[in-house]
Amino acid sequence: MNILVVGSGYVGLVSGTCFAELGHKVFCIDIDEKKINSLQSGKIPFYEPELADLVIKNIQSQSITFTTKLAESLNQADLVLICVGTPPKQTGQADLKYIFQAVEEIGKNLTKYTVIVTKSTVPVGTAQKIKKIISKNYNGEFDVASCPEFLREGSAVKDFMNPDRIVIGTENQRASDLSNELHEKLDCPKLETNLETAEMIKYASNAFLATKISFINEIANVCENVGADVEQVAEGMGLDTRIGKAFLRAGIGYGGSCFPKDVRALHHVAGQTGYPFQLLKAVVEVNNQQRWLFYKKIKDELKCLENKTIAVWGLSFKPDTDDVRESIAIDIIEKLVEDGANVKAYDPEAMKNTQEILGDKIQYCFTADFALENADCLVIITDWDEFKLVKFENIKSKMKTPLIIDGRNMFDGEKLSSQGIKYISVGR
Ligand code: UGA
Repeated sequence: MNILVVGSGYVGLVSGTCFAELGHKVFCIDIDEKKINSLQSGKIPFYEPELADLVIKNIQSQSITFTTKLAESLNQADLVLICVGTPPKQTGQADLKYIFQAVEEIGKNLTKYTVIVTKSTVPVGTAQKIKKIISKNYNGEFDVASCPEFLREGSAVKDFMNPDRIVIGTENQRASDLSNELHEKLDCPKLETNLETAEMIKYASNAFLATKISFINEIANVCENVGADVEQVAEGMGLDTRIGKAFLRAGIGYGGSCFPKDVRALHHVAGQTGYPFQLLKAVVEVNNQQRWLFYKKIKDELKCLENKTIAVWGLSFKPDTDDVRESIAIDIIEKLVEDGANVKAYDPEAMKNTQEILGDKIQYCFTADFALENADCLVIITDWDEFKLVKFENIKSKMKTPLIIDGRNMFDGEKLSSQGIKYISVGR
């Protein structure tokens, strides 16, 4: 099939490249000419495992083309995938201006029957609004569909190629047949719904996963008061197949461009319909509180932070990405700096993006080891695998005081204390 992907950001680039890999002919467009030029030469604008190789392979086989010209590729496309961003407004509401701009342009340039599929995360009712905008600009036949994506940053290519499910929201057989053909090679349950249900499944899934995280974080806080170990509690809960062990890792709370935005957006949508979604309000509050409870551990241990040297490992909102959007590391570091500490930070991929936000407020270190030199404390914020490889002897010999405060429960406390390192983690 011929596919036009509108928006070559995270969702668009991963989906477009993977659909090309599955045998479709893909055109990826973006209004950002600089981005398109660099994509044409195989350079991807963010770090995502496996993606760069796949982009280059599909450029070479001419399965994927990057362009800024919508009209030319639109008249060849069977389906258009809308993959533009839906950033949050101050109110928590999703800002749909990029979606509507893209759709208006599509409507003005359509010349034949096409299915317009939304992949971006959008509030319930958006597909119907898209339909109206296209109808205003185009008199011919077309359909809309909603096929939300469930990719995680850091494992997006794997998630795309091995999905748990595909949700296909349509209004008629013709759109359903084409949407099914698009996903034909992906072997997993395919759930057919109406447009509104498909849109809701995406929000409900993200909100539920965020709820699991806030739940286990509250359990962790209680564990600390009663002498229980949250890691074992999560394991014990997760063995119950009705609960499952995924997303029960306690820590400093969730960040990133999806959960914080989507939970607030669903809470807002529910409120607008007259239903106050109480549970989600608490999920957000617990998540906001969790980072400051962690910060208190640093303060309690070091008492005064003025002129203390703090090594920080991990800046991205999670491992295997360079994304620092809503990364809790940024909040914690800003507070450390405000309290007078000298921060020496290290992250395998996210240093450049962090520097754009924090500038020269902190010192950026080339290695995890280097950040440890002369530090009064090591604070772990993101659980990159490579941190597990650092030798305990190095930690002890390089630091001024061998103290680790770990927001991701990466290490075994008993092992560290047997080496003379004080170790404080979350919920144990
Ligand atoms: C999330 C969803 O997992 C994807 O299914 C969805 O497609 C995506 O949002 C989206 O809407 O586009 P992502 O934000 O990439 O994916 O990352 P996650 O792996 O879900 O992690 C989100 C945050 O929760 C991270 O800060 C992570 O550290 C935190 N987390 C995750 C925990 O604190 N504990 C856990 O047990 C799991």
